[in-house]
Amino acid sequence: MRRMISRSMGVLCAGIALGSIVAARPSPGRRSTPPAPLQVSGQTVYNDVCAVCHQPSGEGNEEMYPPLAGSEWVNGDAGRMVRIILNGLTGPVEVAGVEYNSVMPAWGATLSDAQLAAVATYVRSAWGNKGSAVSTAEVTAIRAAGRSRTTPWTVRDLMAATVTATEK
Ligand code: HEC
Repeated sequence: MRRMISRSMGVLCAGIALGSIVAARPSPGRRSTPPAPLQVSGQTVYNDVCAVCHQPSGEGNEEMYPPLAGSEWVNGDAGRMVRIILNGLTGPVEVAGVEYNSVMPAWGATLSDAQLAAVATYVRSAWGNKGSAVSTAEVTAIRAAGRSRTTPWTVRDLMAATVTATEK
């Protein structure tokens, strides 16, 4: 009994310590991922998550990572781009006339719908891109519709999924 009490005291103390950390943050979140500020900045999400591979300039890296600046995948169908961010992409993909064949990890578990919409909208309008804005509601719908997919997209599956979604 005594042991149980001391253990619950420990939990209580940890709770208080954690509470003060969370309280020090600008906007406390329910999840362990960094709490999303009220207005999500797509540029901040980009720099935190995507820039390590696609570079702050969006130019990518010729050997490994395709560009987002001037990419037909970024300027094209919004749903297709959202799916790539949610689940990642693997296998051959042609971007601006160059073939890549690598793996992009999934970000669906890390990013909230609002963060994903913000980063997609940012990328689609940065560096001279001319893609339409992406709303949080669109991301929510695409995430729900694609819940059964657990592996990164291949271009082939992605094109099939996009056609199905457009026909609906
Ligand atoms: C760990 C490295 C990495 C990170 C981080 C990453 N990507 Fe990618 N991304 C890739 C690779 C590699 C490919 C190509 C995959 C292939 O060859 O099939 C790709 C492909 C893409 C494509 C389709 C091709 C193109 O160039 O337009 C888009 C769109 C994209 N990524 C957007 C993003 C966005 C937005 C983020 C941040 C939320 C992000 N990526 C984070 C590595 C990454």
